[in-house]
Order: sequence, then structure tokens, then C-alpha cells
Amino acid sequence: MAIQTSTERGSWNSRLGFILAAAGSAVGLGNIWGFPTKVATEGGAAYLIIYLLCTFLIGFPVMVAELSIGRASRRNPVGAFKALSNNKFFPLVGLWGVICGVMILSFYSVIAGWAFGYAFEEIFYFLGWTQMADLLTDTGNGWKNALLAVIFMLATIKIITGGVSDGIEKATKTMMPLLVGIIVIMILYVLTQDGAMDGVREYLLPDFSRITTDLIFSAMGQAFFSLSLGMGALITYGSYLSKKENIPQVAAFVTLADVGIAFLAGLLIIPAMYVARSAGIEIFVGDQLASSTDLVFQILPALFHTIGGFVGVTLGVVFFLLLSIAALTSTISLLEVPVSYVIDEHQMERSKAAWLVGLGVTFISVVIAFQTSLIGSFSYIFSDLGLPIGGLLICLFIAFVWKKEEALNELEHGFPTIKQSLFAKVWPVFLYVICPAAIAYNIISNFL
Ligand code: TRP
Repeated sequence: MAIQTSTERGSWNSRLGFILAAAGSAVGLGNIWGFPTKVATEGGAAYLIIYLLCTFLIGFPVMVAELSIGRASRRNPVGAFKALSNNKFFPLVGLWGVICGVMILSFYSVIAGWAFGYAFEEIFYFLGWTQMADLLTDTGNGWKNALLAVIFMLATIKIITGGVSDGIEKATKTMMPLLVGIIVIMILYVLTQDGAMDGVREYLLPDFSRITTDLIFSAMGQAFFSLSLGMGALITYGSYLSKKENIPQVAAFVTLADVGIAFLAGLLIIPAMYVARSAGIEIFVGDQLASSTDLVFQILPALFHTIGGFVGVTLGVVFFLLLSIAALTSTISLLEVPVSYVIDEHQMERSKAAWLVGLGVTFISVVIAFQTSLIGSFSYIFSDLGLPIGGLLICLFIAFVWKKEEALNELEHGFPTIKQSLFAKVWPVFLYVICPAAIAYNIISNFL
């Protein structure tokens, strides 16, 4: 997308460009850090199943909703609700999204910093510089966390100042296939190790008695987070989307790519945990997996170290660099939301807006870097709770304010036969009933 001024709005270079950017936004730490951690600590295969249901039955319809609101209005989330109706309440929903974006980004950048640091940890470990390696594995070290998070934020701000550009499209195009490739190689390796089959069983054989309201709540939040939904990131990305695109088709592709990578990450990490256990690494407290935010960051390096030698270090470095790029294409989408809001609604120039908002977020990141226990509460409030609430309101907006006819008119661009299709019959049912009811039920039962 070219640099955007207030009169001219950028757009994606190509069809693939948009898909890559949206998939780049979706695929990130949520897939490789968040999802396996939650599977491990909250219910194994039972969690996987509920997560898949949430993704396809709730996430996908909401994704189509966000993209169509964005493309119809060509605005940031606050402006979009203003442009499509006179309703005074919904712009506040957009604002809530902007706030969630800022807050999610502030802790996300700390975790992204860990991932980036681990690329160097692998090298130092290989060279035998154990002190340096240990420093990078110490997720409690505030100064180190802060330094890495700041580097990460600066990279994000730098890219955003140039507009959501070629950069993301290119980075995503090479990163994603490589990331999948390396994960598959690692899976094949892990599956040959002692103990791996216990992990595969845990991941794929559901014990339905583990499904609780807590599990469903967490899986729903995870689905929204992983698909980048509920706060207007895809309203914003949709605002740059061409009328030629078939939105439901694009959304289906992005959803499948995101779920596919999360599924593979689980298939790698859950068995790897059991392998680590049979190698005597303490990842269990009693019968329960130790639940901690850095679980994945303990397991993966241990795995690269057991592969050892030049192969181990190369796989490790490449993996963590790819993970950092995946995280970067996600932080870009998180920062783009508040930045496009400031550009559109406060008529600020792009690079000024990017620095202003970006440095504000960086400040919060530094606080979190020293106080990593905040990550849990931030992700509860702004992700697990904030995103599904945003998604619920987006459904209600289309159902009762903007109206489904208008939404379908928008979707007709790029999908001319939509009104005769099954999609046009089924999607509204999801927006009117299924998504709002499921989300509301889930949140209420979590509070009770
Ligand atoms: N989906 C990304 C991940 O899985 C994180 C992310 C990027 C996000 N943009 C978002 C989450 C917008 C919620 C909303 O890592």
C-alpha cells in the first residue's frame, strides 16, 4: 500500500498481497505460543475440539462481518461505524477496539521480544557462551525484556510509518511456507522420540469430561485472538481491500491458514512436552503441566539442544527468526488500528501518528517487561474478554443497525452470485443468533 494521505487511501498491491497480509496478521505468537500453552494446560484434545468449533462457527462469520464493514466504509474502526450509520453507540465499540489493540500490543511485544532473543540464545548456547544464553532464557529479567520489546516496537513503528506496504506482503510470502516446513521437520523428529506418543494421545484423543465453562471461555478468546478478530484489525485491513475480492473466500483461506498452523504447532509442542518429561525435564507439577507463560519457550530450546550440533542450532535460529517475523506481521496489524484511527479521525500525518501511538505503546511494554505477571490479566481483560465482546457487538451492528441487506450488497462485489448462494441464507443466522448467543452465554457463564 502506498503512503496514505487524508485524500488518498492506500490499497493492497494485489489479491495475494491482501491475503498474505491478513494471514500474516492472523499467524503469530497466538498460534505457536498461545494455542499450545492453552492446549497443554486446559484440556488437551477436548480443548482442541472446542477451539476448532469456535473458530469455524463464530470466528469465520465475524471475520466476514469485519471485512465487509471495513471495505464498505473505507475507514478505521471508529470512523467505519460512524460512516455506516448515525448510531452514537457503535463508534464507542470501535474505540474499545482501538484500546484493546494498544493493550494487546503492549504485552505482545514483550513476548515477541522473547522469541527474538531466543534466536540469539541458540547461537550463544552453541558457542558455549552459557552466561549470555542464560540471560536470554531468563524471562524474568526486566532490563533484557524491556530492551528486546523496545527493539520489536521500533521495528513495528518503522514499518507502519511507510504504510502497510510491500514489506508485509513479501515477508509473509516467504515466511509462512518456511515456518510450516520447519515445523513439519520438527514434528517428524519429535515423533520418533521416547514419550512422544503420550503427547499425541493427549492432543488428539479427547476426554470430554474436561470440557468446562472455563475451557470454552478460554478457547473462544483464543480463537478471536488467533484470527485477529474483535477489535477492528480486519475492519482496518478490509478498508484497504479492493472491490474485486470475494470476501467470504478470502476469509475462508485466512481462517484455514491460521487454524492449520496452530494445529501443527500443537502437534509439535504437546508431544515435545512429553518427550521432555521422559528426558527428565521438570515441566509437570504433580500430574499437571506447569502452567506458565513461558512454557513453550522452555520446551522448544530444550528440543533444539537435544538435536544438538550444527543441525540443532541452525533449526533453532531459523525457527526463532521465523517466529519473530510472524510476530512482526501481527504487531503491524495491531499498531495499524490505533494509527489509522488517529490519521483518519484526528487528521494527523501517518508517520507522526505512528510514532506518537507507537511510543505510547512502547512505554506500557516497558512496564510489562518488568512486571510480566501483568501479561495474564492483560490478556484476560483485553483479549479473552475484550475481543469476543467486540465480536458480539460487530454481529449486532450488522444485524440490527447496518442491516444484512447492506452487508450482502457489499459482499456482492467480488461475489456477484452471493444473494442466490447458501452463504446468504446461513451467514445472517450466525450474525443474528448463533454468534451473539454463544458469545453472550459464554461470557455470562464465565462470570457466574
Ligand atoms: N493473531 C495474532 C496472533 O495469533 C495476534 C494479533 C494480531 C491480534 N492482530 C490482532 C489479536 C488483532 C487480536 C486482534 O499472534
